[in-house]
Amino acid sequence: MNFHVLTLFPDMIEQGLHTSILGKAMEKGCITLETTNIREFAANKYNRVDDYPYGGGAGMVMEAEPVYRACKSVEQKIGRPVRTVYLTPQGRVLNQTIVEELAMEEELILLCGHYEGIDERVLEDVVTDYISIGDYVLTGGELGAMVLIDAVSRFVPGVLSNEESSQFESLQDNLLEYPHYTRPEEWRGKKVPPVLLSGDHRKIEAWRYEKSVERTKERRPDLLKNAVSVTCAFYAPEESLREMILQTTGEMTRYGNFLDVGRKKIRKQRNAFGSGDFLLFAVPACLPSDSPLASHEEFFCSFHGKDTPAALMICGGSDEADQASGQLQLLSERLKTALEGRGFRILDICLNPEESRKRRQFLLGLREKIYRGIS
Ligand code: ADE
Repeated sequence: MNFHVLTLFPDMIEQGLHTSILGKAMEKGCITLETTNIREFAANKYNRVDDYPYGGGAGMVMEAEPVYRACKSVEQKIGRPVRTVYLTPQGRVLNQTIVEELAMEEELILLCGHYEGIDERVLEDVVTDYISIGDYVLTGGELGAMVLIDAVSRFVPGVLSNEESSQFESLQDNLLEYPHYTRPEEWRGKKVPPVLLSGDHRKIEAWRYEKSVERTKERRPDLLKNAVSVTCAFYAPEESLREMILQTTGEMTRYGNFLDVGRKKIRKQRNAFGSGDFLLFAVPACLPSDSPLASHEEFFCSFHGKDTPAALMICGGSDEADQASGQLQLLSERLKTALEGRGFRILDICLNPEESRKRRQFLLGLREKIYRGIS
């Protein structure tokens, strides 16, 4: 991924980012950083880029023309218009979903303002996203750009090692992370919780979940309000489909439950859910001839929701040929109606989740809807 920062203080950006993990990522070529000094695009011989505000008032305003030229020069090098983020306290407050969504871009321009801000007319022309890093005012956008680059880079393949992987995130489930411990086993009279030394992975996961909830209750009760318990109900006649479904759920939650509807036991039991649950239903577009399910509807028979948020993935259909696409559309509407009749509130449907970009967008959209309480 290539970051292009437009700033009056390129050294600040370069010095701040060429160290530690990001420095290594740049050496490896996973990310690149190019800073452009807006002053080099000044339209006067004094290299002045700011002027007094029309209407009076304190401070200076950055002129439109140098910002416009700086931005266009970067876009010209890239050869196409690029998503352009202006760092400002007036923007959407950065969060993990925005970070992951930005990480899907190949190129990103970050525009840093100074003084009282930038002439509104150029912002209207070049900016696609207004982003704030918090409800406080900084002296300029540079620290915001650095925060954003750091957070986004963690999702660029190759930046983190496997152990540091961003797959299991603090905040992934709207929960804070559990506490961590390392050697020595006893430090100044304080012992590591015995369960962590037990070697029993189920017990350890259960303990971590409990601690995460406890900690979130104490420190960020606002997050807990929208936390949900994720269950993935699936039927996967093929192993590759099963893997894709398990991975997708893993990207949504660290603590997922799985119900394989291909198993008779699961179809026979009553699977009841409430409004604190979230159900991800994953079904193949076409049931194989030897399927234990006579129809897609049979898949859902044992499921009972109570205003339970849910989403549907219909796998393995083709949405290319017109006819197949029409059939897929019909199937998704039929299944949506069936699920709504069983008490589920369908937040979104993903056709062909095999396409990783599509799946990613679907998951990010879902996360926004679940955790921000939008339906
Ligand atoms: N520039 C000044 N304050 C800022 C903030 N809070 N976030 C992003 N950019 C800024």
